[in-house]
Amino acid sequence: MIIAIDGPAAVGTGTLARGLAARFNLAHLDSGLLYRAVAARVLAAEGDGSDPDQAEKAARTVTVESLSEPGLRSERVGRVASKVAVHPAVRQTLLGRQREFARRPPGETAGAVLDGRDIGTVVLPNADVKFFLTGPLNVRLARRVKELRARGERFIQARVEQDMRERDQRDRSRAAAPLAAATDAHVIDTTELDAEAVLETACRLVRSSPRTSRTKVRRVSGAPSDTAQKVRSQESP
Ligand code: C5P
Repeated sequence: MIIAIDGPAAVGTGTLARGLAARFNLAHLDSGLLYRAVAARVLAAEGDGSDPDQAEKAARTVTVESLSEPGLRSERVGRVASKVAVHPAVRQTLLGRQREFARRPPGETAGAVLDGRDIGTVVLPNADVKFFLTGPLNVRLARRVKELRARGERFIQARVEQDMRERDQRDRSRAAAPLAAATDAHVIDTTELDAEAVLETACRLVRSSPRTSRTKVRRVSGAPSDTAQKVRSQESP
């Protein structure tokens, strides 16, 4: 089973992805960390993310194993991540890493769940189930502030808000793979829902999806993951 989750900054895609991974025994890839790992390399070389060649070179050195590097979740790295994410060559390089993860999820899992901005539209257009989470800026800002406090990070709220506005704007307006809901995504408005309610809603939708029940039958019958993936691709419109 392959699940794609997209949405703007701090809307809860990561929390939902981790919840679904635990419920359905899926490997999870937070694709934002790939862009953050590129940004961390650019920052280490004293860049600001605007040079496409520098960013592309950095992207070539990033692997799924790089994602446990410390400091990737900081606000500074996130800001530069949204700048390197604008460059088509960076996106192209990271595309292969993401598809490979979905094709061969690590461990004894029943598939993969990826979250990001363009998973359902570009990275995995044939995903079995797609979600797109939405929520107004003030709600997402409150969640981000809570998260930063819990991590003990020092921050200025007005700066975090300004950064989120700018990142949303860059992610939505870039030419290459902008943030958008896939036409076949389940759109969940998280304004009035806590994380648990979003997870329960998503679990219901996964269980009721005809494509996931078909995948489960194939898995129980022992089809290897490659075969299951091919079967799904052929079945896709
Ligand atoms: O989700 P996160 O905040 O960690 O992502 C950091 C940045 O990486 C985003 O603001 C976005 O610009 C970029 N990104 C992307 N496509 C993805 C995941 C993240 O462009 N699939």
